[in-house]
Amino acid sequence: MAIQDGYTLLVLGAGVMGTAVTAAVTDSKMKPFPGKVILCSQLEKSEKRLKSQFTQDFVEVIVDVEKKKKAIETADVILLGCKPFHFEAVHAQVKDNLKHNPLVISLLAGVTIDNLSIFSDKIARVMTNTPAQFGAGMAAVALSEKASEYKQFVNDFAGCVGAALEIPEKNMDAATALIGSGPAMCLLMMEALYDGGVRMGLTHDVAKTAAAKVMEGTAKMALETGEHPAVLKSKVCTPAGTTIGGLLKLEDAGVRGSIARAVEEAANISASFAKK
Ligand SMILES: NC(=O)c1ccc[n+]([C@@H]2O[C@H](COP(=O)([O-])OP(=O)(O)OC[C@H]3O[C@@H](n4cnc5c(N)ncnc54)[C@H](OP(=O)(O)O)[C@@H]3O)[C@@H](O)[C@H]2O)c1
Repeated sequence: MAIQDGYTLLVLGAGVMGTAVTAAVTDSKMKPFPGKVILCSQLEKSEKRLKSQFTQDFVEVIVDVEKKKKAIETADVILLGCKPFHFEAVHAQVKDNLKHNPLVISLLAGVTIDNLSIFSDKIARVMTNTPAQFGAGMAAVALSEKASEYKQFVNDFAGCVGAALEIPEKNMDAATALIGSGPAMCLLMMEALYDGGVRMGLTHDVAKTAAAKVMEGTAKMALETGEHPAVLKSKVCTPAGTTIGGLLKLEDAGVRGSIARAVEEAANISASFAKK
């Protein structure tokens, strides 16, 4: 059955990512729009944080386990945002209240549709990242067979974080590495640009802002032109100039291969979570 306007969204695990995705949806103009959002947390300090962040009258925060179980029965969509190694414990707590087979959207790295089928047969995996908190996230979506009728809904829901693309589930570990871990890899590059600027005499404030804006602007240029990065890179290399000199230093150090291998390593670690 299609998700209707005014549906109930329940969040199991409203930490960094669960909160970012929920805020992206509740701040959006997406249709269908939830009529009720229930955020479930375990700790009092999380309850306080959630109540001060979500002040809309259609949002409720629940800590009490019995109340949480009852609320599950009213959920049309469950957003699962706990840590990957907690999903079985979270399921054990609420399994008797899942008989209505809700659509479950999982944000968990490395936990497969097959693993998640204990919750429902309608599973959507969404891999997103922390820039989602600023409307600049990326999301990859993979659906179970029974969830395919919710394809449009899930793509629009995930797209609220910034952008979403559907991929086969077999590519989810690669997406986890590139999308989920990618921001930390970009931050390492940003830090290195910052350090270089400071080494050559820029103030910390100037170097910090310049490094971030250079990365932001370069990403915008690549997205708006649709050009391959190698083409854009070649266009800014003046013969005998500064840029080609700097790039060759990076190639000597094997930076390009190291970054690609870092994505490979992160994907392999993600794949190993499902085997545990
Ligand atoms: N952080 C990233 O960059 C990133 C990127 C991509 C994907 N992910 C995925 O996103 C998921 C969440 O990561 P995160 O960084 O957002 O973690 P987090 O901030 O630690 O959030 C996890 C939340 O799960 C809650 N939780 C644990 N057991 C629960 C239970 N029985 N009932 C209700 N809530 C429960 C905790 O609630 P309390 O606070 O009340 O204890 C906590 O808020 C992970 O599976 C991760 O693989 C994260």
